[in-house]
Amino acid sequence: MTHQSSLTSLVDRFGRTVDYLRISITDRCDFRCLYCMAEDMVFLPRAQVLTLEEIYTLAKAFAELGVKKIRVTGGEPLVRKGALELLQNIGSIESLNELVITTNGSQLETMAASLKEAGVKRINISLDTLDADKFKAITRTGDLQQVLRGIQAAKTAGFERIKINAVILKDRNHWEVNDLVRFAVDYGIDISFIEEMPLGIVSQHSRADAYYSSDLIKADLVRNFTLIATAEKTGGPSNYFNVAGSQTRVGFISPHSENFCGTCNRVRLTVEGRLLLCLGNEHSVDLKQVIRANPGNMAVLKQAIVDAMLIKPEKHEFNINEQPIILRYMNMTGG
Ligand code: GTP
Ligand code: 5AD
Ligand code: SF4
Repeated sequence: MTHQSSLTSLVDRFGRTVDYLRISITDRCDFRCLYCMAEDMVFLPRAQVLTLEEIYTLAKAFAELGVKKIRVTGGEPLVRKGALELLQNIGSIESLNELVITTNGSQLETMAASLKEAGVKRINISLDTLDADKFKAITRTGDLQQVLRGIQAAKTAGFERIKINAVILKDRNHWEVNDLVRFAVDYGIDISFIEEMPLGIVSQHSRADAYYSSDLIKADLVRNFTLIATAEKTGGPSNYFNVAGSQTRVGFISPHSENFCGTCNRVRLTVEGRLLLCLGNEHSVDLKQVIRANPGNMAVLKQAIVDAMLIKPEKHEFNINEQPIILRYMNMTGG
């Protein structure tokens, strides 16, 4: 089946142009965040995983189809061997405007400078709490100090922007939102607060009980900070506010309280080569099969990607009051 759109841009049935690709380069992670994974995770066997060369070829095909921004994610992307080299290769694709990554920060102390050199422009780092015990409880295996040293290393390396991502859960870390913004202001970096999404079955909390909306967070923040609404966008789902008297932007990612699917501009590639058309649905196309059945054939690969746009769903169907319908965990897509 051939989509009528030209082979130089990706447009779905709802007229949305896709120019942002998120590539998960591993499902593995050194943390086990309790909203992201089950405690006993089974990771993918190597044969099922795309090689670094295949990932690069896919990145190139998407760039030739008009993708301007690539975000490399995981699991934790920096635990994959060869990640730096891959980033360097993707970073040298000329038509891309932005190569960015999302990381848990655990490897940044040693890797931040090389990432900058590899051409990574901006970096998003997960940090849900500034309390070391809480950090351990949420990540199950993480060490807060290591991540804080990583954030400092990223600062020193001089990325264009650094953003903290904080998933806020009621009764687990909701009282920390002011401290987290203060931390971001002190460091001169940005921060986004994220409403938890029901992906995969988690055991330690009920997602309905843990729901803490962006409006509640805003109400907590305005007691301490002046938030000035801005129309600034990064191509991601955050709605941003400037914190008066600082360089910091506070973003809100509100899949439940403020649906942003109407302006969706992105698709995701899992490390198994599955092109997921929406984070909150299972519609996907197996690009690993296409690439392995047609080695070196860029035209066939690009056509498969163009055709995939036909099945991009209109919106996610998250419902935190029911058992999740999406059984894949967040580590398969890196957000
Ligand atoms: P910026 O480029 O800095 O705007 O990054 P981003 O916010 O797009 O990316 P990041 O990897 O930091 O993701 C932050 C959160 O946004 C994660 O929890 C993602 O799951 C969520 N997110 C990103 N895109 C989508 C989307 O299309 N749908 C939903 N529901 N959530 C998304
Ligand atoms: N809901 C919302 N955000 C999540 N993340 C991981 N799992 C979830 C979830 N279930 C966040 C991580 C990271 C980003 C990529 O996604 O904290 O910052
Ligand atoms: Fe790892 Fe990120 Fe998932 Fe935490 S949220 S377990 S750091 S992939």
